[in-house]
Amino acid sequence: MAAFAIHGDIIWTEEPGAFRYNEGGYLVISDGKVVSVSDVRPDCEIVETDSSLVIPGLTDLHLHAPQYAFAGLYMDEELLDWLNHHTFPEEGKYSDPVYAGKAYSAFADDLQRTATTRVAVFGTIHTDSTLLLMDKLEKAGVAGYVGKVNMDRNSPDYLTENTDASVAETERFISMSSRFSSIKPIITPRFIPSCTDNLMQSLGRIAYQQDLPVQSHLDENLSEVEWVKELCPWASNYADAYNHYSMLGPKSIMAHCVWLNDDEIKLLRESGTYIAHSPSSNTNLSSGIAPIRKYLEAGLKIGLATDVAGGSSLSMFRMIQDAIAVSKLRWRFDASGGKALKFSEAFYLASKGGGSFFGTTGSFEKGYDADVVVIDDSRQSTILLKSLSVPERLEFYTYRHPDEFIKAKYVKGRRVL
Ligand code: GUN
Ligand code: FE
Repeated sequence: MAAFAIHGDIIWTEEPGAFRYNEGGYLVISDGKVVSVSDVRPDCEIVETDSSLVIPGLTDLHLHAPQYAFAGLYMDEELLDWLNHHTFPEEGKYSDPVYAGKAYSAFADDLQRTATTRVAVFGTIHTDSTLLLMDKLEKAGVAGYVGKVNMDRNSPDYLTENTDASVAETERFISMSSRFSSIKPIITPRFIPSCTDNLMQSLGRIAYQQDLPVQSHLDENLSEVEWVKELCPWASNYADAYNHYSMLGPKSIMAHCVWLNDDEIKLLRESGTYIAHSPSSNTNLSSGIAPIRKYLEAGLKIGLATDVAGGSSLSMFRMIQDAIAVSKLRWRFDASGGKALKFSEAFYLASKGGGSFFGTTGSFEKGYDADVVVIDDSRQSTILLKSLSVPERLEFYTYRHPDEFIKAKYVKGRRVL
C-alpha cells in the first residue's frame, strides 16, 4: 500500500491524562501503519480534510451482537432476571440463520457508521449464525474478535448445549473462521454459571493449545457473585475460578469487574487480564459502579465497552461520557474508589487503553496500525467553535454530537467508510 497522509487537526493520547495534538498536521501512513505526525507537508498523496478532527479509531472491548435487536428496551430488571426474561429468548432466535442474517446486517451497518474500528463481540451458541456475523463485520471493515458462545448449564433448553457438542462446535467454529482476515475467533464461555467444570476445562485447553484469546464476564452483579460462590466452593473468589481454567492473561477480556476484591485485583494485575469497563450497562442493569481510578492506580489494563444490549448505544463517545459521569457519582458517594476520570483519561481508555488488546492500535505513535476516524466538526453548533483548542473541540463533540459528522474511517490504512 503506497504512503499517503491525512491533513487535519490530529489528536490522540499515548498515556492516560494527556492529549497530544497537531493542528493542521499531517498523519503519514504507509503499509497500513502510522509513520509520523508531522508539521511538514510530506511528499506523498495528501488527503485533505478541511480542518476536520482526526482521531484514532475507538475500541469497543465487549458487546453482544445478537442483543442489538433489543438495545434500548427492557432496562427495568437486574442481570439474572434480565437474562432470563429478555436476553435468552432473543438469543434463541439465532438458531435460524435467516433471522440472524437480517439482524446481523442491521448490526454491522450501524456499527460501520460509528467511530469504532476494533471490537470484541459475543455471538450466540449457534456456530453458523456466528460465522455469518463474522462475515458481516469483515465486510463492514471492522477488525477484531468474535466468539461463538458456550453454555451447557443453568440456561433454557433451547440455549443449553451438550458438553461434548459444545466443544466440537467450538473447534468447528475455529477452523471455519480461518477464512476471515480482519475478524478472528475468541473463546467465549458466557460466564461461570452457564458452563460446567468439564466444559470450562476443555475450553481452557483449546485456548491454550491454539493460542486463542478468551472473553467472559466477571463480578458484574452481586447476585451473580453469590451464585458463583455456591457453584465453585473450591475457588477463593470468582476471578480465581477463571484462573483455575487458565482463562486469565494478557489475551483475556473480563467484562464489568464492578465488584473485584483485593485478591482479584492482584490476580488480574499479575495475569495482565483486560477489564472491559461498561458504565452504561452497569447503570442500566443497576449492577454498580466499577472503581476505575482505583484499578488504574493498581496497574490494571482497562478498555471501555458498550456491552450492548446492557448498554443501549453503540457509541463509544457515549461510553466516554458515561465512564466520566459514573466515576463522578462514585467519587461523591464513596471516595474509596478514587477520584473521577478526566476527559483525556476516558478518551485514552476508549482508544489506546482497549486498543492495546489488539496489538499496537488506538494511538498515532510510530508503527501503530493506522486506524483513523475523520470527523467534520465544523458542523458543530456552538458560536465558540472558532476559539476552541483541538482538545476542547473533541470534548464538545463527544458530549454534543457523538458519532455524527463522521466523514471517513480507516482500518489498518484501508478506507472502510
Ligand atoms: N453475564 C452473562 N451473560 C451476560 C450478558 O449477556 N450480558 C451481560 N451484561 N452480562 C452477562
Ligand atoms: Fe456482556
